[in-house]
Amino acid sequence: MELRPVKIGNVTVPGNVFLAPLAGFTDHAFREICLSLGAALCFTEMVSCKGLMYRNENTAVLLKTSDKETIKAAQIFGSEPDVMRAACESEYLSPFDIIDINMGCPVPKLFNNGEGSALMENMPLAEKIISECVKSGKTVTVKLRTGVKEEKPVAAEFARMCEGAGASLVTVHGRARSAYYSGAVNFAEIARTKNAVNIPVMANGGIFCKEDADEMIRLTGCDGVTVARGALYNPFIFCEISGKSHKKDFFEILVRQIDLLKTTYPDEWIARNMRKQAACYLKGVRGGKQAKVKLLSCNSTDEMKEIAREVFRAENFDV
Ligand SMILES: Cc1cc2nc3c(=O)[nH]c(=O)nc-3n(C[C@H](O)[C@H](O)[C@H](O)COP(=O)(O)O)c2cc1C
Repeated sequence: MELRPVKIGNVTVPGNVFLAPLAGFTDHAFREICLSLGAALCFTEMVSCKGLMYRNENTAVLLKTSDKETIKAAQIFGSEPDVMRAACESEYLSPFDIIDINMGCPVPKLFNNGEGSALMENMPLAEKIISECVKSGKTVTVKLRTGVKEEKPVAAEFARMCEGAGASLVTVHGRARSAYYSGAVNFAEIARTKNAVNIPVMANGGIFCKEDADEMIRLTGCDGVTVARGALYNPFIFCEISGKSHKKDFFEILVRQIDLLKTTYPDEWIARNMRKQAACYLKGVRGGKQAKVKLLSCNSTDEMKEIAREVFRAENFDV
C-alpha cells in the first residue's frame, strides 16, 4: 500500500497505518510501543463518558498518555449527547487532539443500552452525538461497522451522516454487529463507504500481515488501514507494513511494555493484566503452551519476565 499522511480535520497524521482501540490492551505502554514500531496514530481503548462525568478513577486511568504520543487520540462511548459533549470539554479529554466515538461495539452491555453499534440503527441520535461533540471544538472521528445485520449494510449512508454532522474521519470495521469479530470482511461495503464521503476513510478488519493491508487498500481504495488483533499478536506488523527495518524481539518488547506500565500500576496488577498480552506474543511459539500455563499463575513481573526469557530463548530469539 502507498504510505502517506492523513489529514484529520486540522490535525495531520504523518502516516496511514493506525492502531485500533482495543479494550484491555491499548494502554499508554502498548500505544507507545506501536508508535515506536511505525504506527502513525494509536487510540486509547473505549472509555465511558458517564464514567468520566462521575469521576470514576478506573475510567480516568485509561486515559493516561505518554509524551511520545505527539498526536493523542481517545475513544469514547455513550448515548447521551450532552454528557458526551461535557466529557469532550472536560479536563480528562483536554490532552487529546482527536476524539473517536465508538459506534461499532457489539457487546450486549453497550448495545442494549443504545451505545456502540446500536447507534447505527439510530441515525438521528448518532448525528446529535457527533454534532454535540464537534461543538466542544475537538476534532471528532467515528468508528463504525458495516451495520448491525450482515444482510443489511448501511455503512456508506451512515458515514455520509457522520460527515454532515462534522466528523473529520471514519473508520469502517468491515463486519456487521451480528458477526462480532469473525467471518469474512465486507470489502465492497468499505469501498462503498469510501466513495460516499469526502473525509478520509480508514479500513479495518482482518489485517494480520503486510499482504492483508495491501489487499485491503487494493479492494477498498481507502486512505489507510487500522490494525487491531494483528498488532496484539505481532506489534512488528507496523514495521512490516510501513517498510521500517526492525529486529523482531518479542522478549524485549514485553519487558519494555512492563517497565512502561510500572509508571502507572502496581507490580501485581501488571503481572495479572499482562498475562493475556504475553499469551498473544506466545502464539505459535515452540513451548508457548506450557509457558502460557505458567503465566496464568505468575504474580510478579520478574516472574513473568523469567518465563518469557526462557521460552523466547528456547526459540533462539536473540535476547
Ligand atoms: C479484545 C478486543 C477489544 C476491542 N476493543 C475495542 C474498543 O475498545 N473500541 C473499538 O472501537 N473497537 C474495539 N475492538 C474492535 C477492534 O478495534 C477492531 O475493530 C476489530 O477487532 C476488527 O479488526 P481486526 O480484525 O483487525 O481485529 C476490540 C476488539 C477486540 C478483539
